[in-house]
Formats: sequence, structure tokens, C-alpha cells
Amino acid sequence: MRHDNRRRAPALFACVAITVLTAAGTMAAEPASRPAAAPIAVDQHGPAIKDVYKNHFLIGTAGDLPGNYSDQEMALARENFGIVTPENCMKPAPVHPGEDTWRFERPDALVKWCVDNKIAVHGHTLVWHAQTNDWFFRDGDKAKVTQRLKDHISTLVGRYKGKIHGWDVVNEAISDRGNAQTADTENLRNSSWVQTIGPEFLALAFKFAHEADPDAKLYYNDYGIEAGPKHASSMVLLKRLIKDGAPVHGVGIQGHWSTNGLPYAALDKAIADYASLGLKVSITELDVTIRGSAGGQFGPGPGGRRFGTGTPASPEDLKLQADAYARLFAILIKHKNAVERVTFWGLSDRRTWRFGQNPLIFDSNNQRKPAYLAIVDALLHPKPELAAPR
Ligand code: GLA
Repeated sequence: MRHDNRRRAPALFACVAITVLTAAGTMAAEPASRPAAAPIAVDQHGPAIKDVYKNHFLIGTAGDLPGNYSDQEMALARENFGIVTPENCMKPAPVHPGEDTWRFERPDALVKWCVDNKIAVHGHTLVWHAQTNDWFFRDGDKAKVTQRLKDHISTLVGRYKGKIHGWDVVNEAISDRGNAQTADTENLRNSSWVQTIGPEFLALAFKFAHEADPDAKLYYNDYGIEAGPKHASSMVLLKRLIKDGAPVHGVGIQGHWSTNGLPYAALDKAIADYASLGLKVSITELDVTIRGSAGGQFGPGPGGRRFGTGTPASPEDLKLQADAYARLFAILIKHKNAVERVTFWGLSDRRTWRFGQNPLIFDSNNQRKPAYLAIVDALLHPKPELAAPR
């Protein structure tokens, strides 16, 4: 697929450099002793992130496009991203709500829009413990549930064969409750898949997906696998899958992080670990909240501070976030031979599941944030010392 769509949205690119200003209300609340940081000017006309990174890795966004997105948002997606992950519409529950019921309208529209615009698609997700309806497991013994798994994967992957760059085949199979004792085990989550089929559900899922589309890149995707016992368990699991001949091509590190404690050193090591197994690595659901916690919480940040809509983050906060993204991308650039793709989990601070915490690179008004500039700069004016793990 080509990723060099050059069409521009007049409305979006007509504006000149903007200045990110702290909202008047927030300024008034600042302690008098603390001087306000200078606003950061962000050039809205500079090179597009996907073009800057085209010789390194794919840059993606997530969303159930085209859906109810505005023309301006669609232009933003087209202009800046080379690959789209459907945020919800290909998950088991929405796409396959009953054994004989499929809902292909939204996935079909997404794939068509991407193909028409020469944008790649990353399918998400075939097998998961969440957003999966009970019918998969109802009255099913191992053989029956395996057959349902196969039918689900063959139908979905087969429908888009040749049009999908890759798939998250299995999402989040490893338990969060890891410790020193579990670190040398797979420590699988006790999901309905494990209960009915057993740990071999993973290898089977990869095999079924590969049969349905032999050219698709097949990923294991999870959060928190870059560090600690969960990382160790992911290595055990991936080694087993490879040994069993499962066609696994890559590992997706979701990347729901915060400027509080981004795991730079762990990430640096984790990418090298996965690459040593011959696997590609992608950051599949990237968002970095400002001073919030890492992980999956929805909505406003700490203390109910809500700076998602209409109330921009302060210049200090935007700078903090831009610096974090710069360090993160310095590490990803260092590992460019292993990294295949970096996908932001949403289009803008208005289109994000962590709404209210300003985690993305476009603000609520679809304007490039300092973080956007910092990521572009990380490649155009590299500072390799930023990639030194701490
Ligand atoms: C996980 C899933 C995603 C999404 C997020 C929340 O990370 O992989 O599909 O559901 O949770 O948006």
C-alpha cells in the first residue's frame, strides 16, 4: 500500500501558526508566585507526521471512520496517518453479536474509505476476553467452541483478505496479577477462552487467521507487557507460540501511558527482547495523558480536572507532554528496524476514550499540539541522547 496521500483540507491548512494559550479561568487560578510559562507556538503547516516517518515506520490513528466524523476530521485522518485501526467496529461483540448475526456495515465502510484513500487498515481484534458475547461459549465443549472460533476468524479475516495490512489476533491474554512467582510462566488470564479451549486457543487463533489471509501481519496485543512480570510472561508465551509454529509476526504494546512515569527504560529493553525472537513490534494504542495515571481509566484526569473540551491544557502541561513524546519517539527511532507501526488511540483530544485528559497530538479543535511538533522534530533534528534509558 502507498501511504503518501497528499490531498490537503483547505479549512484545516488555511490557518497560520496558532498559539496555545492557557484558558483565562485556569490562569486566574495560578498562584501569583508562579510565573506563567510562555505559550508554545505550533506551526500548523509543517510536514505531516506520516510523511516524516515514512522511511521508519507507519503512523496510524484509531477510530470507526468514516462514521460520524466531520469533513475536517476526515481530512485530518487522511493527511496525517498512513494506517487506521477500527476502534470498536471489528471487535467480536459489535461485528458478530450472535452466532448467525454479523454487522458488517461499519467495518465495510471503514475498509472502503481506507482503500479509496490509499490508507492501510490494521484489524482489531479477533479474540478477546472483553466485548465478546456469551454465545461463543454457550453449551459449548472444546470442539464446539473451537469451531466457533474458527468460523469467526475465517469469516471476518476472509471478508477483508488482501485489504488488511495486519490483525490483532489475540488481545490481552495475560493476567494483570503477575508477581515474581508467575514471571517464568505465561500467567494467562482465566478467560472463557482458556476455560473452554485451554491455552492452545492462542496458537489456534493465529493458525486460523493465517489460513484466512496468508499475507496479513498477525499480532499479539496487550497492555503493560513492556515491564515487570507481565513482560516476562509475554516472553514465555511468545516463545511457546513460536515453538508451536503459530504464525505470529509481531507484538503490539498498547501504550496507554501518562507523563507520570512513562516506562522508557523498560520499553527500550522490551523492544529489543521481542526483536530477539524475530518479531516486529508496534505501539498499537498510544496515548499519553498529562499527569494522569497510566492505564485504562476513562474521563477526566486527577482531581476531576477537565481540560478536554474548550479548556486547553496549560503551556507547562503541553510542554511536559511534548517532552515525553519526544523521548518516547527517540527510543522508537533507535529501534526502527524492529518497529513496524505507531498508532495513536484516537484522532484528537475530542476523539479519545481518555476524554478530558488531553492525551493525543491534535487538540479538541483539530489543531496540532506541541507534542506533534516534538515528534516530527525527534526525527528531523534527532537527539539520540534522549533515547538513553533512565
Ligand atoms: C483496550 C482495547 C481497545 C480499547 C481500549 C479502550 O486497550 O484493546 O480496543 O477497547 O481498551 O478504548
